[in-house]
This record gives sequence, structure tokens and C-alpha cells, in this order.
Amino acid sequence: MKYVLSFNLNGLPVDTLVKATDTLLDVLREKLNVVSAKRGCDNGDCGACTVLVNGEPVRACLTIGLTVAGKNVQTVEGLQQDGKLHPLQQAFHEHYAAQCGFCTPGMLMSAKALLDKNPKPTREQIVEGISGNLCRCGAYVEIVEAIQAVAAGKYKE
Ligand code: FES
Ligand code: FES
Repeated sequence: MKYVLSFNLNGLPVDTLVKATDTLLDVLREKLNVVSAKRGCDNGDCGACTVLVNGEPVRACLTIGLTVAGKNVQTVEGLQQDGKLHPLQQAFHEHYAAQCGFCTPGMLMSAKALLDKNPKPTREQIVEGISGNLCRCGAYVEIVEAIQAVAAGKYKE
């Protein structure tokens, strides 16, 4: 049996048919072709699938799709505005914070959630903010530096 799931995705309303067992990651990647959220472990361990639901970072692989009905979901596809990269995207690019790039979408969304709540985090708060996101390339130093640069106001929207 399938159900209609309606929610806002990156500011636009979407409707799709889902099974009760479909995760938000299934819905995004397989129903809506929104593929920035990555399927790393599919088990809640790596953070590669992190998206924002009503501004809170969640693991899309652990979130039942039907639970986002009526909510606002944000993915990396919604970060750029009018073709201009979001400051975090620009900073990641310039600080070489994306190596293979697999963790990058989840890192960006965790960083966005952090800076939205705390625009001037300490280094320790940044490390804590991305602590649920694993980077198999070990680019943590560059990732933290990129987020620090945005927090320092070096990149503007
Ligand atoms: S794919 Fe969701 S936490 Fe790894
Ligand atoms: S840049 Fe490769 S996993 Fe992080």
C-alpha cells in the first residue's frame, strides 16, 4: 500500500507516493531524484545522509519518510540562491574541504544547522557540530577551517 506524502522541499511543495517503510533518504533519492544526501552506511553511523527538517539536522536514512509530512526539508540542492553558492559551499571550495566529496553534503547541512543557531561558534563548538559526520578522506582540518571562515564573516550571502 502507498500513501501520499506532501512536504516542502527547499521551499517548494512536493507530493509523492511512498510506502510506510520508505525512509526520507529513499524518498529524496529514489522518488524525487534529489541525490545530494548520500547513502553511506544506511544505518545512522556516518552522517552522509544529513538533511534539515524544520531546521534540525536529521539522518535521512533513519527518518521514516511519512514523518516529514507538512514539514520543511532542506538539502544541499536548496543552498545556492540565484546561481550563487552559499557561503559554506564557497568556503568549502576555497579551503579544499571537499576531497572525494562524499561526506560534503552532510557536512554542509550540519554546518548550516550549527551556524543558523550559533553564528559565531568556537572551534570546539564547530567540532561538536560536525561530530556526527564522518569523513573517510580525513579532511576534518579543512572542513573546520572553512566553517570558521564563514563564522568570521569572510563569506557573505
Ligand atoms: S547513510 Fe545515514 S547515517 Fe550513514
Ligand atoms: S571528502 Fe571524502 S569523505 Fe569527506
